[in-house]
Amino acid sequence: MKDHVDDILRRKSDHLDVILAGEGAFDRIDAGFDRVRLPHCAAPEIALSEVDLSAEFLGKRLAAPFLISSMTGGPTRAGAINRNLAEAAEALGVAMGVGSQRVALEGAGDVGVSSDIRRWAPTAVLYANFGAVQLAQGYGVAQARRVIDMIEADALILHFNPLQEAIQPGGDTDWRGVLAAVEVLASSIDTPIIAKEVGFGLSAPVAWDLAAAGVAAIDVAGAGGSNWAKVEGARAGSDHVARVASAFGDWGIPTVEALRACRARLPETPMIASGGVRHGVDAAKAIALGADLAGQAAGVLQAAVDGPEEAAEAIMVAVEQLRVACFCCGVTRQTALRGLVF
Ligand SMILES: Cc1cc2nc3c(=O)[nH]c(=O)nc-3n(C[C@H](O)[C@H](O)[C@H](O)COP(=O)(O)O)c2cc1C
Repeated sequence: MKDHVDDILRRKSDHLDVILAGEGAFDRIDAGFDRVRLPHCAAPEIALSEVDLSAEFLGKRLAAPFLISSMTGGPTRAGAINRNLAEAAEALGVAMGVGSQRVALEGAGDVGVSSDIRRWAPTAVLYANFGAVQLAQGYGVAQARRVIDMIEADALILHFNPLQEAIQPGGDTDWRGVLAAVEVLASSIDTPIIAKEVGFGLSAPVAWDLAAAGVAAIDVAGAGGSNWAKVEGARAGSDHVARVASAFGDWGIPTVEALRACRARLPETPMIASGGVRHGVDAAKAIALGADLAGQAAGVLQAAVDGPEEAAEAIMVAVEQLRVACFCCGVTRQTALRGLVF
């Protein structure tokens, strides 16, 4: 058990190194935002100061439609990273998903995700997290309640990462029964469940199945940003694993494609777009394409490593970019961006 947990901790720490080093960890394909245009309005007839970025998601108010996407790290660094991000989420009124809480559940430390997060972000919207595949391997209502209670979470994120697990030595590769287990869980807890990928995208049929299973919201988490097959390949320390991973550099559904398809299939489902969101203009395009929130992980990681001011500044820049994009489209509310793409 201890070896198993040590291995998870080592792997999480390696993930941070690979992502921060940049090279080799990102997709060869892009998320698709550069091919989406928003209609510039040269006579907006509104004041920049009146643009309202506030959002409502799963019954909670946010000051701006942003999610700091779930990130775990190794035991030593994740605490500081999470604190910087949690304080930024609290100060700026954006949502934050914590990284996987599996290690904490297995009783071997907290990987920086503990009840402290709620202390650092007493009023922020926080989402708990573990892997959906764990539901097919014994996790259920008890584990879900524990991760939710640990941070007094407003929702539980289940991540769907079959490619990452398939590449990772010792990964969880038996996904039989996961959807049925999600359905049982969703009908047994009151806290809403959000289903996400980790950067290869949810297809419309999968999103549909998840919604039918009782998931309250989905995060398409598409391709074009962090590529977890390549990250696992880069950290494995094995030529064999690296060679298997090397063919998956352009795998997955680009974020824009996943978002368009999922929104068309599920017009009413609360939806997050993440995966390769670089800045607030990408966020504006995601909202125009039907997202309710835009999520960023790798894009804010370096700032979160650098310190609390840097983390807050990175998010403030994205918020300001979104505000200017709304202004230059001539809309006073971010929600009015919906459908404006051409
Ligand atoms: C260092 C790091 C750790 C991550 N850990 C988790 C995790 O524990 N749980 C999860 O659901 N997603 C995790 N992710 C995936 C992100 O939440 C996100 O879905 C993915 O990185 C795509 O977004 P991006 O292109 O903005 O990085 C992690 C991402 C990074 C960069």
